[in-house]
Order: sequence, then structure tokens, then C-alpha cells
Amino acid sequence: MSLEGKKILVGVTGGIAAYKIASFVRLLKKQGAEVRCMMTPASFDFITPLTLSTLSGSPVGTGFSDSKTGEWTNHVEWALWADVMIFAPVTASSLAKMAHGFSDNFLMATYLSAKCPVFIAPAMDLDMYQHPVTKENIGRLESFGYTIIPAENGFLASGLDGQGRMAEPEVLLQYLTDHFHRDGRFYGKKVLITAGPTHEAIDPVRFIGNHSSGKMGFALAEAATSKGAEVILVSGPTHLKTAHRQIRVVPVTSALQMLEAVQNHWEQADWGIFASAVADYRPTVAANQKIKKTEENLHIDLEKNPDILSWASANRKAQKVVGFALETQNGLDYARGKLEKKKLDAIVLNEIGEPGVGFGTDTNSVKLIFKSNKIRSFELQSKQELAFSLLNELMNNLYE
Ligand code: PMT
Repeated sequence: MSLEGKKILVGVTGGIAAYKIASFVRLLKKQGAEVRCMMTPASFDFITPLTLSTLSGSPVGTGFSDSKTGEWTNHVEWALWADVMIFAPVTASSLAKMAHGFSDNFLMATYLSAKCPVFIAPAMDLDMYQHPVTKENIGRLESFGYTIIPAENGFLASGLDGQGRMAEPEVLLQYLTDHFHRDGRFYGKKVLITAGPTHEAIDPVRFIGNHSSGKMGFALAEAATSKGAEVILVSGPTHLKTAHRQIRVVPVTSALQMLEAVQNHWEQADWGIFASAVADYRPTVAANQKIKKTEENLHIDLEKNPDILSWASANRKAQKVVGFALETQNGLDYARGKLEKKKLDAIVLNEIGEPGVGFGTDTNSVKLIFKSNKIRSFELQSKQELAFSLLNELMNNLYE
């Protein structure tokens, strides 16, 4: 899990977006993090301490002493416990307190005792967000080295529409994931990744496709971005969206479009990782109108699609080229054959058949084969974890 064992202190202040912190805490726990929450009294109107203590599995810090035992809650101990602190949502008033050091509640006292990195996600109405004093406070907090997670545009509780919504829990999670996975070796590297299926039109309403969901390719794109690379993600049709704002997603439908997108970006890339399941054939002619079911049998002529991976490999300057091989039998032999034929640096063998492996699943298990014939096996794990492990292994071997 990508935040395994990390100690994350979540500070909640009194804004309507506080209700979203329940799902944020769940996301953190799902990633293996240890979570403690602190709340200002004003936030109790939006979410209860009981909700957050239940979800985090830890008592919630609400004041300087326990109201039942009278025991002192040591804010310094809380601050030292944390690997990172994240404050979300942060109201205009709490933002001002943070910028100017007002320590009038437990959350603020703990914040002022922070020795770890601090992330702040403001949320307020659009005019408050645009006010010069808010901007100045944000600038001041940034000058202390804290990371501001900008508010998003959208529908606000006031009924207005504009910038002020707290960043979604997935975005907050992405900031923390990036923080813990930064890897200097990926800085300045441009990685082109392909993901998802391609759809080859038969007529305006039908296509030839496959079961790829895009999850493996998206996980690789997010992991590479977290590590510090610049990522271009060329994706076939998928319902997935990435919370990662830096990823440049180039959506395509067919293999020919995917080839064109790869060609447009290949020269600037340092790496290519080709995880997409490209249709090998496409209908020679796509009908202009919906084909009617008048005949008993229908024959569709197919022609071969270009091999995008082979094109990239043949047209490389210094790029590292990593392919995938989806196999149902004799996986190692076929994958080695593709590695050689397509002149790759490495290939990821995805042998399907076992539950939880391959298309559409949240998990995967693969073998990574280098051209030196070194092989590394990866047991069943989430596609996110696998993506980090694959990138580490590739970086260790391709740049040794
Ligand atoms: O998207 P998910 O649901 O998460 O599933 C992930 C996955 C199973 C799709 C992924 O892990 C995977 O195995 N991707 C490769 C699928 C595939 O088409 O394999 P292949 O053995 O047919 O192709 C070999 C390589 O050539 C692949 O890198 C493929 O992207 C590339 N190729 C293939 C055909 C073609 N015309 N152009 C290509 O570039």
C-alpha cells in the first residue's frame, strides 16, 4: 500500500466541506496510513468526532484536555507524532490564524508545533477566496514552506459558482502520495505511457474492442508522476479519470489515433511504457450508417493495425522502451519473443487466467523481463503498488 505505516495528522476546521473528510480518512486508511484527526469546535457542526475516530481508528483531538478525565492532551506530542500534517478544509478564518500564528484552539497549537511538512487545503466562498487578504495569507503560508492545495472551481454552498471548493479527497491523497514517493532519479524525465483499449469502428454504433479498463496504464502514469516524472498518458476509451492534475492525458479511440498521438510526443520522451491493449485488426471499411440485420451472416473484412510499440522502438533516439505482453499460455516464451522482435529494453508479462489478474481488475501479478534475460516476478497486489514497484525496478536496471 502506497502510504503503508505513514503517520498522517488530519486537521479539520469548520467549513461545509468537512463532511468530505470522512472519505479522505477512509482513502488514507485504505493506503495503509496511520491516521489521527484533530478538529476545531466549529467543525463539529459539519461532522462529528465520533465519525472520524471510528474511521481513523484513533481518538480525535478536540481540545487541550479530555473533558471526562480532565487529563491534558499534549499538542506537542501530537505534532511530533506526525510524518505530515494536512489541514482540510481550512476556512478563511483558520487560514488567517495559521498565517499569523493565533493559537486559540488545540488544532492551531498543534499546527504551530509542527516539525513535519504541512499541507493546507482552503475552502471558502469565491469572493472570500479572491479577497486580497486571503491571497496574502496564502502567499505567507507558502513562504513558510507549506504546500497549499488550491481550491477547485465548481458549485459552492452559497449557490454561487466559482473557485472555492475544497480539492476532492482523491486530490488530497495524491498530494500526500507524491510527497512520500518523490524520487530524484525521475526528475526531468518525460514518460509516455499508453493505456486502455482501442475501439475500431464497424459502423457508427458498433466497434471491435477488448476488456482493458485502463487501470494498469493509469496506475503507471500516476506512480511516475508521484515520483517526479513528467507524464503524457495516451489513453484509449475508459471511464477512468486521474486526480493528478499534472498528467497530460491525450484521449484517443482507435489504434490509428493512438499511433498518431504517440508519434506526436515520441521525440520529446525519455521513456515509453506501452500498457494499452491495442486491437490488432480493424474493419477495412467502417460503414457510414448503422448496418441493418437483413442478412443471415455478416462478414467483416479486417486489416492489420500498425504496431505502435514497434514503431516507437524503431524510431527511438535514446528512449527506453518497455512493452507489455498479454498471454494466456506459454507466457515466458511469447513475451521473450516480443521483447526480441520489437527490440525492447524490457517487457511486462501479464499472463491471465488466475483471479485478480489482467483486464479490469484492481490487482495484478506480472513478470518483468529485461533484455539481459533477468526476470523479476511480482505477486498479486494492487495495480497502484505494482506500478511503483515496476518503475523502481525499471529505473534500477535501465539506468544502471
Ligand atoms: O487496462 P487494464 O484493465 O488495467 O488491463 C491491463 C492490461 C491487461 C491491458 C495490461 O496489463 C496489458 O497486458 N497490456 C498489454 C495488452 C496487449 O495488447 O498485449 P499484446 O501482447 O497483444 O501486445 C504486446 C505489446 O505491443 C503491448 O505493449 C501493446 O501495447 C503493443 N501493441 C500491440 C498491438 C499493436 N497494434 N500495437 C502495439 O503497440
